[in-house]
Amino acid sequence: MNINSKAVFGLQWGDEGKGAIVDYLAENADLVVRFQGGHNAGHTLIINGEKTVLHLIPSGILRDKTKCLISSGVVVSLPELFKELNQVLEKKPNAENRLFISKNCPIILSTHRALDLARERRKGSKAIGTTGRGIGPCYEDKIARRAIKISDIFDEKILMEKLQEVMEFHNFQLTDFYREDARSIEEELEEIFGYRERLANLSIDTQSFLMECVKNDDSILFEGAQGTMLDIDLGTYPFVTSSNTTIAGLLTSTGLNSSYIKDVIGVVKAYTTRVGSGPFPTELFDEVGKVLATKGAEVGATTGRPRRCGWLDLVSLKAAIVASGITEICLTKIDVLDNIGSIKLCVSYELDGKPITFPPSHASELLACKPIYETLEGWNESTYGQTNYNKLPDNARAYINYIEKFLGIPIKMISTGPERDAIISI
Ligand code: GDP
Ligand code: IMO
Ligand code: MG
Repeated sequence: MNINSKAVFGLQWGDEGKGAIVDYLAENADLVVRFQGGHNAGHTLIINGEKTVLHLIPSGILRDKTKCLISSGVVVSLPELFKELNQVLEKKPNAENRLFISKNCPIILSTHRALDLARERRKGSKAIGTTGRGIGPCYEDKIARRAIKISDIFDEKILMEKLQEVMEFHNFQLTDFYREDARSIEEELEEIFGYRERLANLSIDTQSFLMECVKNDDSILFEGAQGTMLDIDLGTYPFVTSSNTTIAGLLTSTGLNSSYIKDVIGVVKAYTTRVGSGPFPTELFDEVGKVLATKGAEVGATTGRPRRCGWLDLVSLKAAIVASGITEICLTKIDVLDNIGSIKLCVSYELDGKPITFPPSHASELLACKPIYETLEGWNESTYGQTNYNKLPDNARAYINYIEKFLGIPIKMISTGPERDAIISI
């Protein structure tokens, strides 16, 4: 058996450019697997000038032959899945034959979304700033062992029983606590049951499906969603998402053990962004922050919210690297730093007057951390679309080398533009 797999993780607060990297690497992949999160993700692919944003379907779907699997740790909204699949089918007519989905995926209901939105509204200024897609409430039901899974939807009687149990509970919270309208259980049943035939052709058992691929020596690419600092356990709780965004989430979702994962790629944006609330030590509120937001087109791919921007935070990257066992880094959006003057990198924090070199685990402590910067000289040339490492400006290479040395992990890919091929492989 020849293990031929790569796992791709975002090492910041999401939107590092994972989708574009997975699409690029998928040229040589037989299978791409999405393993956590849901349609809170927004993965942008630009191919020959045409933009596609994927939320649930793995970023291998725009290749011709690559199979795509949504494994059991992903929470799935069926209307959103089929809306996205229908859009993809216009570009890739064979997409439905290449898509597979675990029978074990929990289903996001209309009440999950309603609860997500109602809670955020009630929290007011203390809101997490979720994507409002029902992700958190659906994961809660999974852990509480009352979630409806894909395998439950093929029998109308079983589905109705389960919907009644869970939606009565949701409706009670919605009406009696949040003073919102209840949702109709019958309408939910009708909508979900309507997808059963299409789903019957797509749904599989994750572990045996993957073992078959491994037996065939398939090349497998695992696609992370969100970022390590949004991890439910490791991230800036409670300003996090509700899944494990690290290799831990990959393993529980697929039923594979770590010996099946060969290369572990950490995707790092050349600066930092964050959507939603929560601590962000290197956030910029000045002109440079605005320049990064404008040049980087930093607008949420799922919700359209502006992304907060700041300098690269090397301290928090240390924790992210350990969490997933990163073996190589892909540095994205280096072109956004062109012509920016001097560039800062956060190399340690100061907390209560003392320097610290590893991020604290508690959000309130991180909030109190002051970033300590190293300043490097910028470059006044364009790196946009560059595919040759030796043609990068000296100062851009110095920036890349500094990061590599500081983190002790090789940078093997650099992305210089949003297009599929704007990538330097080293
Ligand atoms: P993901 O969630 O990690 O897949 O990232 P998003 O798609 O949410 O956000 C990344 C954004 O940056 C998208 O608009 C991409 O088209 C864009 N992008 C990706 N790589 C590059 C790059 O190297 N340079 C520039 N300028 N844009 C990039
Ligand atoms: P990709 O895969 C950036 C953020 C939300 C919010 C928090 C919780 O495109 O990198 P949730 O709806 O998950 O309960 O929201 O997590 N968030 C993301 N931020 N990129 C994402 O995905 C995100 N998915 C969730 O903004 O702060
Ligand atoms: Mg995104």
